[in-house]
Amino acid sequence: MILGPRLPVIALLASAGLTFTPALAQSEDGTRIAMQICSGCHGVGGRSESPMFPQLNAQTPEYIEAQLKGFREHARGENTARDYMWGIAALLDDAAVQSLADYFSHQPATRGASGDAALTARGQKIFERGVPDKGVPACATCHGAQAQGAGTFPRLAGQHKEYLLHQIEVFKNGTRGNAPVMSAVAHTLNDEQAKAVAIYLQSK
Ligand code: HEC
Ligand code: HEC
Repeated sequence: MILGPRLPVIALLASAGLTFTPALAQSEDGTRIAMQICSGCHGVGGRSESPMFPQLNAQTPEYIEAQLKGFREHARGENTARDYMWGIAALLDDAAVQSLADYFSHQPATRGASGDAALTARGQKIFERGVPDKGVPACATCHGAQAQGAGTFPRLAGQHKEYLLHQIEVFKNGTRGNAPVMSAVAHTLNDEQAKAVAIYLQSK
């Protein structure tokens, strides 16, 4: 599915033959909603093939739920969230959000393509130990030793590197402004460190 920026997503879904009716959006049938609506961008089972769209497979249920509510309440405000997820999340009620979180969190984990070996090793070191003399904290402290996530700390393992880098950028520029802790962390990373960590995480 190819979408330009700032086009009404619901209308585009409709033109692709996907009707997101209130009955479906509030059906509490996460599997069906995921297959009929979410898979158009996030891939089957949340295994997205396009770096624009984050992987949702094996993501923690608490994080998925928090993000869908964040989109619904317009608290997560970067342009990509606004353009793609606000309209969709608005149609989901709490029961649908919960059943989608349950569905995606149970989809098996996958790892992405590996990249440059030296950068991967550098990224792993930053992830596991941080860069103490530069004030960069160890990502593993919150995201888990295997980047598997826990509760509202998201899984990062296997995520598209382009998506990860874009998120670090929107935490820094303040448009994803509802996550003060992670925004503070993002500010400690320079471009080279962010790139290394993203390459490492994608390959995990
Ligand atoms: C038209 C394309 C599109 C569709 C359809 C779509 N999404 Fe998204 N989704 C996106 C994009 C783009 C992002 C990344 C937004 C950003 O950069 O902030 C995203 C982000 C998310 C996130 C945040 C992931 C993270 O790691 O923070 C969740 C959760 C999510 N979508 C769930 C869903 C669910 C559930 C559905 C089906 C009801 C769905 N999406 C349908 C495009 C889409
Ligand atoms: C003190 C805890 C903490 C530390 C340390 C931390 N993070 Fe996070 N991170 C979070 C939280 C909490 C979120 C979810 C924010 C939200 O709710 O939107 C997050 C979200 C993210 C996201 C967005 C994921 C997505 O799917 O959209 C990325 C990317 C990220 N962190 C990268 C990192 C990297 C790289 C490091 C190490 C340099 C790191 N984090 C260290 C707490 C932390």
